[in-house]
Amino acid sequence: MATMQDNQTWSGRFNEPVAELVKRFTASVEFDQRLALFDIQGSLAHAQMLAACNIIGTQDLNDIRRGMAQIENEILSGEFAWLLDLEDVHLNIEKRLTTLVGDAGKRLHTGRSRNDQVATDVRLYLRHAIDELIMLLRALQSALLDLASQHTHTIMPGFTHLQVAQPVSFAHHLMAYFEMCQRDAERLADCRRRVNRLPLGAAALAGTSYPVKREYVAELLGFDGVCENSLDAVSDRDFAIEFTACGALIMTHLSRLSEELILWMSPRFGFIDIADRFCTGSSIMPQKKNPDVPELVRGKTGRVNGNLVALLTLMKGQPLAYNKDNQEDKEPLFDTVDTLNLTLRIYADMMGGITVKPEAMRRAALQGYATATDLADYLAKKGLPFRDAHEAVALAVRFAEQRGCDLAELKLEELKQFSDLIEQDIYAVLTLEGSLAARNHTGGTAPQQVEAAIARARKLLAQ
Ligand code: ARG
Repeated sequence: MATMQDNQTWSGRFNEPVAELVKRFTASVEFDQRLALFDIQGSLAHAQMLAACNIIGTQDLNDIRRGMAQIENEILSGEFAWLLDLEDVHLNIEKRLTTLVGDAGKRLHTGRSRNDQVATDVRLYLRHAIDELIMLLRALQSALLDLASQHTHTIMPGFTHLQVAQPVSFAHHLMAYFEMCQRDAERLADCRRRVNRLPLGAAALAGTSYPVKREYVAELLGFDGVCENSLDAVSDRDFAIEFTACGALIMTHLSRLSEELILWMSPRFGFIDIADRFCTGSSIMPQKKNPDVPELVRGKTGRVNGNLVALLTLMKGQPLAYNKDNQEDKEPLFDTVDTLNLTLRIYADMMGGITVKPEAMRRAALQGYATATDLADYLAKKGLPFRDAHEAVALAVRFAEQRGCDLAELKLEELKQFSDLIEQDIYAVLTLEGSLAARNHTGGTAPQQVEAAIARARKLLAQ
């Protein structure tokens, strides 16, 4: 990064220039550059309000607009010369503006401070990021639905404690993640409401003595309203913390799904295969195909959770109002946005490229006495108290285990040893299909119910 030769001091108030090392320590331009276009957007709205309130002249506004248009081009084409001596994105742009248009550039900062300016920029940035993330979540949900709709009759073991519990359909399992993503999207939309408020007008901390119209600026920038208290407007970053918490939950959900994909792809399970383009081989073991993408998603969850803790810790000891600490909000926030963005993009594509192996799922479901609860329910429905039914079935499972067979493979006389309530009709109950079909209520795994859930979900996405 270039530095300015004249080593100028901050202002007339300072007797010596800032030490080189301190300059590097305090500068944020290397990372807050990414706010540049939002900074310009905020400045243009501020200038338009200043002109409308006769705080600056129309000519000044035109000069500012002309200068900013050029700066925007310079930034987009990569020609803009970012200077470390000018500390941050705000001072870099303002200085360039002044070079280009003279006094009008110097008037831009009237009634404004970098404190309300940076808070505005971050909110504009985050609002934009949230809108994109919600779209990406939608795309992932749609990929989940596409896969689920092919597998309402594909039976796999449902697990608790990672032990075979009861049969479920693969579609039902996928729809659990659809629900998580749905709450994630709702959380982001809710967070956006609190992000979408205008800090400008708060100036350094107390407001400004100029006759500004904050509501007008809010309207120009598409904010839902203004931050009501100037001290709060410049100092709190709760909206960024809240967003990062939403991000940590998204990653946590995807980390859980990743863990499952990794397990399912292992030959021990062999439930699915992930397309080659999401996997890598080993440099030493020629036979390997590793699920790198889900593993990395699981790993990256750690950094997003870390970003949440970083932001919470950043905030906790700060007295009102603005403190330079807040400059440290940016990297964790940007990193969270980037990680989510990339993860969601890859994930939607990866879910579309999954090959399902129904026979392996079925084999596993048949192995773990997954229909034992169904037998207990059968007895309870015939009048045996559920606890006694539970015990009778436990004995039947032990018996079958000793024989090395499934409950459905026992003869009727064998089953009758455990309860004489058991009749021929038990065999329909003990099948995997019978078990699924029996759970026929909202939220249950019966194919008919899962089909209805998928239909509801499709409607939700179409809204
Ligand atoms: N670069 C600063 C930040 O990111 C901008 C605000 C600085 N304000 C100040 N009074 N030093 O927070």
